[in-house]
Order: sequence, then C-alpha cells, then structure tokens
Amino acid sequence: MTLDVRSGAFLTRRSIMVAAAALGGAALLPRGLKARAAGDPVSLEAKPGEARFLPQGPATPVWGYGGSVPGPEIRVRQGADVLARLTNGIGEPTTIHWHGIRIDNAMDGVAHLTQHPVMPGQSFDYRFKAPDAGTFWYHPHAHQVMQQDRGLYGLLIVEEPEPAAVDREVSLVIDDWRLDADGAIETRSLEHLFDAAHAGRIGNLLTVNGRVAPELPARAGERLRVRLCNACNARVLELTFEEARAQVVAVDGQPIAPEPLPGDGTLVVPPSGRADLVLDMAGGPGSRAAVKEVSRQPVSLAHFALAEGERARDKLLDAPVSLPRNPVRAPDLGQDPLVFALLMEGGAMSRMAGARFKGEYHSLRELAQKHRMVWAFNGKANNHSEPMLTVAAGRPVVIEMVNDTAWPHAMHIHGHHMLVTARTRGAVKPWFRDTVLMEAREEMTVAFLADNPGKWMLHCHMLEHQMAGMSAYFEVTRS
Ligand code: C2O
Ligand code: CU
Repeated sequence: MTLDVRSGAFLTRRSIMVAAAALGGAALLPRGLKARAAGDPVSLEAKPGEARFLPQGPATPVWGYGGSVPGPEIRVRQGADVLARLTNGIGEPTTIHWHGIRIDNAMDGVAHLTQHPVMPGQSFDYRFKAPDAGTFWYHPHAHQVMQQDRGLYGLLIVEEPEPAAVDREVSLVIDDWRLDADGAIETRSLEHLFDAAHAGRIGNLLTVNGRVAPELPARAGERLRVRLCNACNARVLELTFEEARAQVVAVDGQPIAPEPLPGDGTLVVPPSGRADLVLDMAGGPGSRAAVKEVSRQPVSLAHFALAEGERARDKLLDAPVSLPRNPVRAPDLGQDPLVFALLMEGGAMSRMAGARFKGEYHSLRELAQKHRMVWAFNGKANNHSEPMLTVAAGRPVVIEMVNDTAWPHAMHIHGHHMLVTARTRGAVKPWFRDTVLMEAREEMTVAFLADNPGKWMLHCHMLEHQMAGMSAYFEVTRS
C-alpha cells in the first residue's frame, strides 16, 4: 500500500499497477501519483493486525501501522512538510523515529530523550521538513526490539525535484521473522539474553514487503530503481540479483557515484541500512530473475517475472543514472575537529570484566543477571542520563570507534550523516551514511559536521545489542 501525503489517498498495489499500465508502463510511478497540496496528516495508527506471509499459510498476529506490514509507504517532495499523526493502539508506550532524516530534534522520536513516549490511546503529531531526497524509513524508538520486530515500520521516500531516468520504481522492504510452528512470532527468545549477547535475533522466515518470495512484474530490458531497506532486527543482508545488471546509486538515502555490482557480487546491507539500485533486466521475455539472500543458506527472497512477449527495449541502457547531491555538508577536518574515542565492549566471548549502569559499576555477570545488560560504550551500558560528548554546532566531530567485541555491529547516528575516514577491514568509500557496519574487532573512524542542535542517539541498530547496552547519545549545543 502506498500513501501519497500530498493527496492523502491510499493506493493499493493493484491500483498502482493499473495506473502504471494506463501510463504505458514506462511512466514513473511517482508521477502517476499526482499531488494535491498537503493538508491532513498522514494517519499512522500503531495497532495489532494479521499478516499472511504465505497466501495459504497461517495468519501471523503482528503490530503494524494501520495494522499492516510494512506500514504505508509515505512519499513527499524534497523540502516539503511532512505531517504525520501517530496514534497508539498497541497498549504500550511508543514513538516514531524517522530514520536517516536530518530532522528537528524535537521530531526525532526518541522516547525519554526527545519526547515523552506516546501512551496507549494517545496520539502525537510529527511535523518536519525532509531536507534530503532519498530512501528513508520510520519505526518506533521505544521498546524498539519488540515493536519493530512485530512489524512496526514503513518506508519514507523523499522524491528528487526531477525524477531519476528510470522506467519504474520498486520498493523492497526486507525483514526476517522468527515464527513458531503455528505461525505466531516467537517472543520467548526476546526475553533472555542469548541472542542479545551473540549476533542478535535472526529470523527463520524472510519476507519482502510482508510476503514470502513475492513475484514482482517487470519487462525484459526494463530499467528499475529499486529502493531496498533492511528492516531485520539483526540480520546483515547479503543480496544477489540474477539476470540483471545492477548499479548502486544511493546508500542510506544519500546519492553516491554509481557503482556496479560485479556479476557474481553481493550487496551487503546492515540492519536499518538502505540502498537504491538501478537494475537493468537482462533476461528475455517470460524469464524469471531471482533476488537471493546469501548470508547463510541461500534463500530466494523474491523474483522479477518478466512479461511474456514483451520488451521494454531491445538493448539494455548503458548510461549510468546519477542522482543529484543532497545538501549534506562535509566536515572540514582542518577546522579544529572534536576527536572522540569510542570503545565498544561486551557480548559473548568478551574481554569486558564489567561496566557501569545507571552510575554504578557491576561485574559482567551482575550486569547481565540484574540489569540485562551485556554490552557497553566506554565502560557504560545504555547511558542515557548524560551525553557521551557535547559539541557546539558548526564543529566537525571525529569518532574513533574500536569494536573490541567478537561480533559485527551496525553503528547508527541520528540527525547527521557520517563519512568513514579510516577502517581496518573493508574499503573506505566516500559515502555519507547513517549506519556503518563494523566487523568483529574492527577499528573505524567516522567524521561528520555537527550542524544540528539537540540530543542525538548513537547506537547499534542490531536491536538486541541496542537493548542490552549499545546505546548512548551526544549533544550538539547552539553555538
Ligand atoms: Cu533506526 Cu535509533 O534508529
Ligand atoms: Cu551490535
């Protein structure tokens, strides 16, 4: 389901396909969804619902915005006002965080840090401007490990002023679920620390847009813009695209110089990460092109089904698609940067002896048993009582992160996008990102311009790690 905030109209997948067909199929979808002025808020009611991941399978009780998984896809024009009303129908406090948006701090949606949580039966209006065009998403920032796991998330797409030169757009929101034999979400494991101390909660069923192995209509030779989002609690997705030429054109919503995926290459997307791909469908009419997840036993996630007897064009397009830059300012490291060292410790096979929690030091055993914490940043587990660093707005910040753990982590920053300037494992790319994937025992330096006043989270987006200690915040003061 797509919701165009400019028209306030819900569009089902079917009505979009009909609309696209009426436009000759080659028209850009967003153009098909024309636009009255924004007026009423987008309604996002967090509430119980039922998902049918498999057409014949059992119904899975979920929580979703509007009761569906994913929630509505919100589309806005770059720089436009977004107005969304969260209503809480889930019986526990919640919020919405607009992941990756360089937003006013008061709208960042972090419970107890930037707002009071929205209590059951209450609602809250989010109003903000989205300065950057790209693929973003939204999810709760209150009891996130449970609420996001149960299905509370959706895409927020901010459109470029001039749409990219592609035939069509396709959104792929990928999640993994851990289901019991009766199809219900298994929640017992969320209550003990085993997953939290290891790689996080890895599901046993992968879905794309809330479906198992959906068929995605396409045409031979067609050029698609694929907007991918990893909504898994902890799984690092490794994706392959068969029978297609793939170029990555944006990461975490921020455009990059187009970069091809080698024919046999994989695209790695950490939890919460997004990638925009341009896919040129190389197979013939009537063929199928699988999208696979290969981080473990390879799984067919979805496939493009190319229409019989039809071609979008005879020869694949060659010209790369480049997206216009967003107004993100790069940090000038010649301008007296604040350099901060961040030591990440804990988890299974850890060398950490203990850490502070709520101001008191505990041995690791006590920390786990009494406080359900197993990770720490600079010797403190989930320190939300004071900022780990304070910086005046306008100053560059350099964070030297040392992952002294046996596990990878998806380090996510709020309100800013960061550049990786050095790392001891993978390649350094000149990309602005809101989430960086660090390998076990890796050291990585990131830099950003602290240009957005407020209190901003820095945490691991593997949600069980975040829950169990890997979360803190920094403060940007008005200069
Ligand atoms: Cu996707 Cu702190 O968030
Ligand atoms: Cu982590």
